[in-house]
Amino acid sequence: MPQHAQAMRRHFHEAAARRGFSVAPAQEAAVERLAVLAGELARPAWTFPRPPRDLYVWGPVGRGKSWLVDTFYEGLPTDRKRRLHFHDFFRRLHDGVTRPGARHDGQSAVDRALDELVGDSRILVFDEFHAHDAGDAMLIARLFRTLLDRRVTLVTTSNYPPAGLMPDPLYHHLFEPTIQLIEQRMDVLDVSGPEDFRRTAASRPQDGRRRFATGLCLPPGDTALEALGLTAPAPAEATTVPAHLRELPARAVRGGLVWLAFEALCETATAVPDYLALAERFDTLVLDGVPPLAEASADGRQRFANLVDVACDRDIRLVLVGSDPLAGLSADETLTRDLDRTASRLAMLGRPS
Ligand SMILES: Nc1ncnc2c1ncn2[C@@H]1O[C@H](COP(=O)(O)OP(=O)(O)OP(=O)(O)O)[C@@H](O)[C@H]1O
Ligand SMILES: [Mg+2]
Repeated sequence: MPQHAQAMRRHFHEAAARRGFSVAPAQEAAVERLAVLAGELARPAWTFPRPPRDLYVWGPVGRGKSWLVDTFYEGLPTDRKRRLHFHDFFRRLHDGVTRPGARHDGQSAVDRALDELVGDSRILVFDEFHAHDAGDAMLIARLFRTLLDRRVTLVTTSNYPPAGLMPDPLYHHLFEPTIQLIEQRMDVLDVSGPEDFRRTAASRPQDGRRRFATGLCLPPGDTALEALGLTAPAPAEATTVPAHLRELPARAVRGGLVWLAFEALCETATAVPDYLALAERFDTLVLDGVPPLAEASADGRQRFANLVDVACDRDIRLVLVGSDPLAGLSADETLTRDLDRTASRLAMLGRPS
């Protein structure tokens, strides 16, 4: 349906203009491919011998991959579509599998959770496709099977080319069959332009309007905190906040704002579902006592990286009080491998001069 492809092309250019930029040369092939896909999806499924081909968009951080697939999703004139972020995917499957009654039937519980997640959609947009361990590998392989069976087209973004998924040599071989499937089934598009657009988002006011971009990174006791009306919590404000299946100690809750200590959030056994629960209830999260991540535990670093991912994806405001989390990190390669995404996101936060 050429008119649908043309409408999607126009939609991309208008969406970029609204945010104060234009489609970058490295994004053009993806825009074209997504426009063609929109045209294919406009045809009734029965007119196709096979569903439209899947698409795998990859590149380094801040190249506008999420923007591309979100804009595509928003412009698709159908209800038979789903958009998922990596973290939602694992949370939903986990919830489905641990729901009462599902416990003794682990395998089919996964399939049921997948069925619910895919519903009657013809297209699934999965932002930030990565895999860290054997459990992820299993769930992603299942997702592929479900999508194949149900003739659902998958559009996904990643920071890795398919062969680089699951970089941990301990687990990489477990993922090889899925990598082969990706290489056969998906059209792989590299959008590695020269620029991390996040680093210049503040210069584009329309882009900086996202709530996440109004966050801050401040040293303790900074007057900027007071200027924001963020007085340090009094001991009497200490309370607890509901997270996922647990309560977390908070230093204060003030309307849509929650104030937590780094220790309490990132150095205890919290996980992504807890951050998602906080992001659903609050629009501002103040985290104080932030150490340089080089001094945090490995788990603390990973939790903080996940928290920043969730805050950015859910567009909540993050105010970090303490040290610059990234100070001194570049010296140690093993610390930085998973943190380039965090660094790109934190570059959007304001810092007092
Ligand atoms: N062509 C462009 N010119 C300028 N800014 C852009 C362009 N495309 C996207 N952006 C903006 O760049 C920022 C980062 O984009 P986005 O979040 O899509 O990056 P990403 O590739 O998904 O990064 P990551 O891999 O870290 O998730 C967003 O604020 C987005 O609006
Ligand atoms: Mg992204």
